[in-house]
Amino acid sequence: MTRKKSLTGIKPTGTPHLGNIIGAIQPALELAKTYDTNYFIADAHALTSVTDPNELRQHTFEVAATWLALGLDPTQSTFYRQSDIAEDFELAWIFSCLTPKGLMNRAHAYKGFVDTATEAGSKDPDSQVNMGLFSYPVLMAADIILYSADVVPVGQDQKQHVEIARDIATKFNNLYGEILTVPEPLIEKEVATLPGLDHRKMSKSYNNTISLFVSDDELLKQIKKFTTDSVEPGETRDPKDVPIYTLIEAIASKEVSEHVANNLLEGKIRWGDIKELLFEQIKEQFGPAREKYSELQSNRGYVDEVLAQGAVKAQSQAVLLMDQVRKAVGLR
Ligand code: TRP
Repeated sequence: MTRKKSLTGIKPTGTPHLGNIIGAIQPALELAKTYDTNYFIADAHALTSVTDPNELRQHTFEVAATWLALGLDPTQSTFYRQSDIAEDFELAWIFSCLTPKGLMNRAHAYKGFVDTATEAGSKDPDSQVNMGLFSYPVLMAADIILYSADVVPVGQDQKQHVEIARDIATKFNNLYGEILTVPEPLIEKEVATLPGLDHRKMSKSYNNTISLFVSDDELLKQIKKFTTDSVEPGETRDPKDVPIYTLIEAIASKEVSEHVANNLLEGKIRWGDIKELLFEQIKEQFGPAREKYSELQSNRGYVDEVLAQGAVKAQSQAVLLMDQVRKAVGLR
Protein backbone atom coordinates (compact mmCIF):
# COMPACT_ATOMS: atom_id res chain seq x y z
CA MET A 1 0.00 0.00 0.00
CA THR A 2 1.40 3.39 -0.86
CA ARG A 3 1.58 5.85 1.95
CA LYS A 4 0.20 9.35 1.76
CA LYS A 5 2.59 12.24 1.48
CA SER A 6 3.05 14.86 4.18
CA LEU A 7 5.15 17.96 3.53
CA THR A 8 6.12 20.92 5.62
CA GLY A 9 8.66 23.72 5.62
CA ILE A 10 10.16 26.21 8.04
CA LYS A 11 11.29 29.67 7.08
CA PRO A 12 14.82 30.35 8.37
CA THR A 13 14.31 33.75 9.94
CA GLY A 14 15.62 32.85 13.40
CA THR A 15 16.70 29.92 15.54
CA PRO A 16 13.69 27.70 16.26
CA HIS A 17 12.67 28.08 19.91
CA LEU A 18 10.87 25.81 22.34
CA GLY A 19 7.45 26.93 21.06
CA ASN A 20 8.37 26.01 17.45
CA ILE A 21 9.83 22.72 18.56
CA ILE A 22 6.90 21.53 20.65
CA GLY A 23 4.17 23.14 18.56
CA ALA A 24 5.41 22.34 15.07
CA ILE A 25 8.63 20.38 14.66
CA GLN A 26 7.93 17.44 16.95
CA PRO A 27 4.36 16.85 15.73
CA ALA A 28 5.58 17.05 12.11
CA LEU A 29 8.32 14.52 12.83
CA GLU A 30 5.77 12.13 14.35
CA LEU A 31 4.11 11.93 10.94
CA ALA A 32 7.13 10.11 9.51
CA LYS A 33 5.74 6.97 11.15
CA THR A 34 2.62 6.97 8.99
CA TYR A 35 3.35 9.16 5.96
CA ASP A 36 6.00 9.62 3.33
CA THR A 37 7.49 12.85 4.52
CA ASN A 38 9.17 15.85 2.96
CA TYR A 39 10.71 18.47 5.26
CA PHE A 40 12.38 21.53 3.85
CA ILE A 41 13.95 24.82 4.75
CA ALA A 42 12.06 27.64 3.07
CA ASP A 43 15.12 29.81 2.44
CA ALA A 44 13.64 31.52 -0.62
CA HIS A 45 10.65 32.58 1.45
CA ALA A 46 13.00 34.05 4.04
CA LEU A 47 14.40 36.34 1.32
CA THR A 48 11.22 38.40 1.55
CA SER A 49 12.52 39.73 4.86
CA VAL A 50 16.20 38.74 5.34
CA THR A 51 18.64 40.78 3.27
CA ASP A 52 21.91 39.82 4.97
CA PRO A 53 23.38 36.75 3.21
CA ASN A 54 25.37 35.60 6.24
CA GLU A 55 22.31 35.82 8.41
CA LEU A 56 20.33 33.77 5.90
CA ARG A 57 23.06 31.11 5.75
CA GLN A 58 23.32 31.02 9.54
CA HIS A 59 19.57 30.65 10.08
CA THR A 60 19.40 28.02 7.36
CA PHE A 61 22.02 26.02 9.21
CA GLU A 62 20.21 26.48 12.52
CA VAL A 63 16.90 25.26 11.15
CA ALA A 64 18.54 22.28 9.45
CA ALA A 65 20.47 21.35 12.59
CA THR A 66 17.31 21.68 14.70
CA TRP A 67 15.37 19.23 12.53
CA LEU A 68 18.27 16.77 12.58
CA ALA A 69 18.91 17.14 16.30
CA LEU A 70 15.26 16.40 17.04
CA GLY A 71 15.44 13.15 15.16
CA LEU A 72 14.69 13.76 11.49
CA ASP A 73 16.09 10.73 9.71
CA PRO A 74 17.23 11.82 6.24
CA THR A 75 17.26 8.24 5.00
CA GLN A 76 13.56 7.85 5.82
CA SER A 77 12.38 11.34 4.86
CA THR A 78 13.26 13.78 2.10
CA PHE A 79 15.03 16.73 3.69
CA TYR A 80 16.21 19.64 1.57
CA ARG A 81 16.61 23.34 0.98
CA GLN A 82 13.77 24.91 -1.01
CA SER A 83 16.16 26.94 -3.17
CA ASP A 84 18.03 23.85 -4.39
CA ILE A 85 15.03 22.83 -6.47
CA ALA A 86 14.69 25.18 -9.44
CA GLU A 87 11.45 23.50 -10.51
CA ASP A 88 9.76 25.11 -7.51
CA PHE A 89 10.27 28.59 -8.97
CA GLU A 90 9.18 27.50 -12.41
CA LEU A 91 5.97 26.07 -11.03
CA ALA A 92 5.43 29.22 -8.95
CA TRP A 93 5.52 31.29 -12.16
CA ILE A 94 2.97 29.07 -13.84
CA PHE A 95 0.77 29.33 -10.76
CA SER A 96 1.18 33.12 -10.72
CA CYS A 97 -0.42 33.21 -14.13
CA LEU A 98 -3.48 31.36 -12.80
CA THR A 99 -3.84 33.22 -9.52
CA PRO A 100 -6.29 36.10 -9.35
CA LYS A 101 -4.63 39.15 -7.84
CA GLY A 102 -7.66 39.59 -5.60
CA LEU A 103 -6.89 36.28 -3.91
CA MET A 104 -3.50 37.64 -2.89
CA ASN A 105 -5.04 40.92 -1.71
CA ARG A 106 -6.99 38.87 0.82
CA ALA A 107 -4.03 36.89 2.19
CA HIS A 108 -3.60 37.53 5.94
CA ALA A 109 0.15 38.16 5.91
CA TYR A 110 -0.12 40.80 3.20
CA LYS A 111 -3.21 42.34 4.76
CA GLY A 112 -1.37 42.53 8.07
CA PHE A 113 1.31 44.72 6.53
CA VAL A 114 -1.22 46.94 4.85
CA ASP A 115 -3.25 47.33 8.05
CA THR A 116 -0.17 48.21 10.08
CA ALA A 117 0.89 50.85 7.56
CA THR A 118 -2.63 52.25 7.34
CA GLU A 119 -2.90 52.50 11.12
CA ALA A 120 0.44 54.27 11.19
CA GLY A 121 -1.06 56.84 8.82
CA SER A 122 1.09 55.91 5.83
CA LYS A 123 0.06 57.46 2.50
CA ASP A 124 1.08 54.32 0.66
CA PRO A 125 -0.04 51.25 2.62
CA ASP A 126 2.01 49.06 0.24
CA SER A 127 5.25 50.88 0.94
CA GLN A 128 6.70 48.05 3.09
CA VAL A 129 5.52 45.27 0.77
CA ASN A 130 7.83 43.67 -1.77
CA MET A 131 6.51 41.45 -4.54
CA GLY A 132 7.96 38.36 -2.86
CA LEU A 133 5.83 39.06 0.20
CA PHE A 134 2.77 39.80 -1.90
CA SER A 135 3.03 36.57 -3.88
CA TYR A 136 4.33 34.50 -0.95
CA PRO A 137 1.27 32.19 -1.04
CA VAL A 138 1.91 31.36 -4.72
CA LEU A 139 5.43 30.12 -4.02
CA MET A 140 4.11 28.26 -1.02
CA ALA A 141 1.51 26.57 -3.22
CA ALA A 142 4.32 25.48 -5.56
CA ASP A 143 6.38 24.17 -2.58
CA ILE A 144 3.48 21.92 -1.66
CA ILE A 145 2.05 20.88 -4.99
CA LEU A 146 5.38 20.17 -6.70
CA TYR A 147 5.74 17.10 -4.47
CA SER A 148 2.07 16.07 -4.67
CA ALA A 149 1.62 16.46 -0.92
CA ASP A 150 -1.65 15.13 0.49
CA VAL A 151 -1.35 16.83 3.85
CA VAL A 152 0.51 19.86 5.14
CA PRO A 153 1.02 20.01 8.90
CA VAL A 154 0.97 23.70 9.81
CA GLY A 155 -0.07 26.03 12.58
CA GLN A 156 -3.38 27.86 12.48
CA ASP A 157 -1.62 30.94 11.07
CA GLN A 158 -0.65 29.06 7.90
CA LYS A 159 -4.01 27.46 7.25
CA GLN A 160 -5.12 30.13 4.81
CA HIS A 161 -1.96 29.60 2.77
CA VAL A 162 -2.76 25.92 2.36
CA GLU A 163 -6.30 26.83 1.36
CA ILE A 164 -4.90 29.13 -1.30
CA ALA A 165 -2.79 26.21 -2.53
CA ARG A 166 -5.97 24.15 -2.76
CA ASP A 167 -7.67 26.88 -4.81
CA ILE A 168 -4.71 27.05 -7.18
CA ALA A 169 -4.46 23.26 -7.63
CA THR A 170 -8.20 23.01 -8.26
CA LYS A 171 -8.12 25.79 -10.81
CA PHE A 172 -5.18 24.18 -12.60
CA ASN A 173 -6.92 20.81 -12.71
CA ASN A 174 -10.11 22.36 -14.07
CA LEU A 175 -8.16 24.00 -16.85
CA TYR A 176 -5.65 21.33 -17.75
CA GLY A 177 -6.89 17.99 -16.40
CA GLU A 178 -6.49 16.12 -13.11
CA ILE A 179 -2.73 16.40 -12.73
CA LEU A 180 -2.21 18.05 -9.36
CA THR A 181 -2.89 16.68 -5.88
CA VAL A 182 -5.12 19.06 -3.93
CA PRO A 183 -3.47 19.33 -0.48
CA GLU A 184 -5.13 19.53 2.90
CA PRO A 185 -3.97 21.44 5.95
CA LEU A 186 -3.31 19.27 8.99
CA ILE A 187 -3.76 21.34 12.11
CA GLU A 188 -2.83 19.53 15.29
CA LYS A 189 -5.59 20.44 17.70
CA GLU A 190 -3.95 19.06 20.79
CA VAL A 191 -0.93 21.24 20.40
CA ALA A 192 -1.66 24.09 22.73
CA THR A 193 0.22 27.23 21.90
CA LEU A 194 2.97 27.50 24.44
CA PRO A 195 3.07 30.64 26.56
CA GLY A 196 6.24 32.69 26.38
CA LEU A 197 8.12 34.35 29.24
CA ASP A 198 5.52 37.13 29.43
CA HIS A 199 2.56 34.70 29.07
CA ARG A 200 1.71 35.81 25.52
CA LYS A 201 2.13 33.16 22.82
CA MET A 202 5.81 32.19 22.63
CA SER A 203 7.01 33.99 19.54
CA LYS A 204 10.16 35.54 18.18
CA SER A 205 8.26 38.75 17.48
CA TYR A 206 7.39 39.15 21.18
CA ASN A 207 10.94 38.45 22.28
CA ASN A 208 9.63 36.08 24.95
CA THR A 209 11.08 32.77 23.79
CA ILE A 210 13.07 30.00 25.42
CA SER A 211 15.98 28.73 23.29
CA LEU A 212 17.02 25.15 23.78
CA PHE A 213 20.36 25.12 22.05
CA VAL A 214 22.28 27.24 24.51
CA SER A 215 24.42 26.43 27.55
CA ASP A 216 22.75 25.21 30.74
CA ASP A 217 23.49 28.55 32.37
CA GLU A 218 21.75 30.46 29.62
CA LEU A 219 18.84 28.06 29.63
CA LEU A 220 18.30 28.58 33.35
CA LYS A 221 18.66 32.33 32.98
CA GLN A 222 15.85 32.39 30.40
CA ILE A 223 13.56 30.27 32.54
CA LYS A 224 14.12 32.53 35.54
CA LYS A 225 12.74 35.41 33.49
CA PHE A 226 9.35 33.72 33.26
CA THR A 227 6.90 36.19 34.79
CA THR A 228 5.31 35.03 38.03
CA ASP A 229 3.18 36.92 40.54
CA SER A 230 3.30 36.90 44.31
CA VAL A 231 1.29 34.37 46.25
CA GLU A 232 0.06 34.59 49.81
CA PRO A 233 1.18 31.70 52.00
CA GLY A 234 -1.37 28.91 51.64
CA GLU A 235 -2.98 30.47 48.55
CA THR A 236 -4.09 27.86 46.00
CA ARG A 237 -4.12 27.98 42.21
CA ASP A 238 -5.93 26.09 39.52
CA PRO A 239 -3.12 24.63 37.35
CA LYS A 240 -4.98 25.48 34.18
CA ASP A 241 -4.77 29.19 35.04
CA VAL A 242 -1.03 29.05 35.66
CA PRO A 243 1.01 29.78 32.51
CA ILE A 244 4.21 28.12 33.66
CA TYR A 245 2.21 24.99 34.36
CA THR A 246 1.32 24.79 30.65
CA LEU A 247 5.05 24.49 29.97
CA ILE A 248 5.51 21.90 32.67
CA GLU A 249 2.64 19.86 31.30
CA ALA A 250 4.00 20.03 27.74
CA ILE A 251 7.51 18.98 28.72
CA ALA A 252 7.71 17.15 32.02
CA SER A 253 6.99 13.53 32.77
CA LYS A 254 3.50 12.69 33.99
CA GLU A 255 4.69 12.23 37.58
CA VAL A 256 6.38 15.59 37.68
CA SER A 257 3.41 17.47 36.19
CA GLU A 258 1.03 15.79 38.61
CA HIS A 259 3.30 16.68 41.49
CA VAL A 260 3.34 20.32 40.42
CA ALA A 261 -0.42 20.36 39.82
CA ASN A 262 -1.02 18.99 43.32
CA ASN A 263 1.24 21.57 44.90
CA LEU A 264 -0.64 24.34 43.14
CA LEU A 265 -3.99 22.96 44.24
CA GLU A 266 -2.82 22.47 47.80
CA GLY A 267 -1.32 25.90 48.18
CA LYS A 268 2.30 24.79 48.29
CA ILE A 269 3.50 27.15 45.63
CA ARG A 270 7.14 28.14 45.22
CA TRP A 271 7.75 29.63 41.78
CA GLY A 272 11.51 29.24 42.18
CA ASP A 273 11.14 25.50 42.71
CA ILE A 274 8.80 25.16 39.74
CA LYS A 275 11.30 26.96 37.52
CA GLU A 276 14.08 24.71 38.75
CA LEU A 277 11.93 21.68 37.91
CA LEU A 278 11.18 23.02 34.46
CA PHE A 279 14.91 23.49 33.90
CA GLU A 280 15.66 19.91 35.00
CA GLN A 281 12.86 18.51 32.86
CA ILE A 282 13.97 20.39 29.75
CA LYS A 283 17.48 19.06 30.27
CA GLU A 284 16.14 15.57 30.67
CA GLN A 285 13.67 15.53 27.77
CA PHE A 286 15.90 17.38 25.34
CA GLY A 287 19.30 16.16 26.52
CA PRO A 288 20.07 14.03 23.45
CA ALA A 289 18.76 16.72 21.07
CA ARG A 290 20.89 19.40 22.70
CA GLU A 291 23.93 17.17 22.51
CA LYS A 292 23.30 16.35 18.87
CA TYR A 293 22.85 20.02 18.03
CA SER A 294 26.19 20.98 19.47
CA GLU A 295 27.83 18.12 17.59
CA LEU A 296 26.32 19.42 14.37
CA GLN A 297 27.58 22.90 15.17
CA SER A 298 31.11 21.61 14.97
CA ASN A 299 30.34 19.56 11.87
CA ARG A 300 28.63 21.88 9.43
CA GLY A 301 30.03 19.93 6.50
CA TYR A 302 27.85 17.01 7.50
CA VAL A 303 24.71 19.16 7.46
CA ASP A 304 25.62 20.51 4.01
CA GLU A 305 26.16 16.98 2.78
CA VAL A 306 22.78 15.81 4.11
CA LEU A 307 21.04 18.73 2.41
CA ALA A 308 22.86 18.11 -0.86
CA GLN A 309 21.75 14.48 -0.87
CA GLY A 310 18.24 15.54 0.08
CA ALA A 311 18.15 17.90 -2.89
CA VAL A 312 18.93 15.04 -5.26
CA LYS A 313 16.06 13.03 -3.80
CA ALA A 314 13.64 15.97 -3.83
CA GLN A 315 14.50 16.83 -7.40
CA SER A 316 13.87 13.30 -8.56
CA GLN A 317 10.33 13.72 -7.21
CA ALA A 318 9.90 17.20 -8.68
CA VAL A 319 10.97 16.50 -12.26
CA LEU A 320 8.20 13.97 -12.81
CA LEU A 321 5.44 16.40 -11.96
CA MET A 322 7.07 19.34 -13.76
CA ASP A 323 7.28 17.32 -16.92
CA GLN A 324 3.52 16.73 -16.84
CA VAL A 325 2.81 20.34 -15.95
CA ARG A 326 4.92 21.77 -18.79
CA LYS A 327 3.22 19.52 -21.31
CA ALA A 328 -0.22 20.29 -19.94
CA VAL A 329 0.15 24.06 -20.21
CA GLY A 330 1.87 23.95 -23.61
CA LEU A 331 5.41 24.89 -22.62
CA ARG A 332 6.59 21.73 -24.41
N1 TRP B 1 4.99 29.90 5.36
C1 TRP B 1 5.52 28.93 6.29
C2 TRP B 1 5.85 29.67 7.60
O1 TRP B 1 6.12 30.84 7.58
C3 TRP B 1 6.75 28.27 5.75
C4 TRP B 1 6.47 27.52 4.49
C5 TRP B 1 6.89 27.85 3.24
C6 TRP B 1 5.71 26.33 4.38
N2 TRP B 1 6.46 26.96 2.33
C7 TRP B 1 5.72 26.00 2.99
C8 TRP B 1 5.04 25.51 5.28
C9 TRP B 1 5.04 24.88 2.50
C10 TRP B 1 4.36 24.39 4.81
C11 TRP B 1 4.37 24.09 3.42
O2 TRP B 1 5.85 29.04 8.64
